[in-house]
Amino acid sequence: MIAQLLDLQHPLAELAGWDERVRLMVRPRRYEHVLRVAELACRIACANGLDEARAYAAGLLHDIARDLPDAELLRLAPPECTIDAAHPLALHGRAARTLLERWGYRDPVVLEAVEDHTTGPRGGNPVADCVYIADVSEPGRGVNDHIRELALHDLAAALNNAIVSKVTYLQGRGITVHPRTLRAYHALPCVREALAGGQEPPACPVPGEPGGQVVRPTRRRRGTPSHA
Ligand SMILES: [Fe+2]
Ligand SMILES: [Fe+2]
Repeated sequence: MIAQLLDLQHPLAELAGWDERVRLMVRPRRYEHVLRVAELACRIACANGLDEARAYAAGLLHDIARDLPDAELLRLAPPECTIDAAHPLALHGRAARTLLERWGYRDPVVLEAVEDHTTGPRGGNPVADCVYIADVSEPGRGVNDHIRELALHDLAAALNNAIVSKVTYLQGRGITVHPRTLRAYHALPCVREALAGGQEPPACPVPGEPGGQVVRPTRRRRGTPSHA
């Protein structure tokens, strides 16, 4: 890790000093979550032959805007849809990207992973996949252990499981799915292949019912529905 920090071209070099900035931006319990996500994202990347340094960096930075007031989130990330306007917490990934760019952070892979961690990876960025899965399954959450274990040997399967069950869960309860989450769903290879072949896209059992799987991507403020 030290060698990577000394290499100024390495993503971790740019990360020097960000750890303290993140610690100051979030509540103490959030900071502990952030460190667990960074660690797990790094492990998932390592297990799948992906970019460990960028996975760690994106994990460390992903929730930097999570504890900002709604007004600040709306200012940093103007709403794109009615869900955003009604539930500004859904904006904290986009707001984090804006903040990081203003502060001079430039790695596009990490920035996209940070932006997409709230609503789901848009596809084509394995670092974003690592961070999304690490965020929903880090041990401190107490849920989704099966997704974490799956990701440590098959990240694509874990992502399919997490995104499909999330969309199925929301639609099953009549909750409007965020357009960016739908984009993540349609970017999954299993969904693309099914639709291209004229088949029904895959669906998971409804969480809480026999065979169902519980996916809780974010802890929400009171009264905020789980559609982000
Ligand atoms: Fe988050
Ligand atoms: Fe998080």
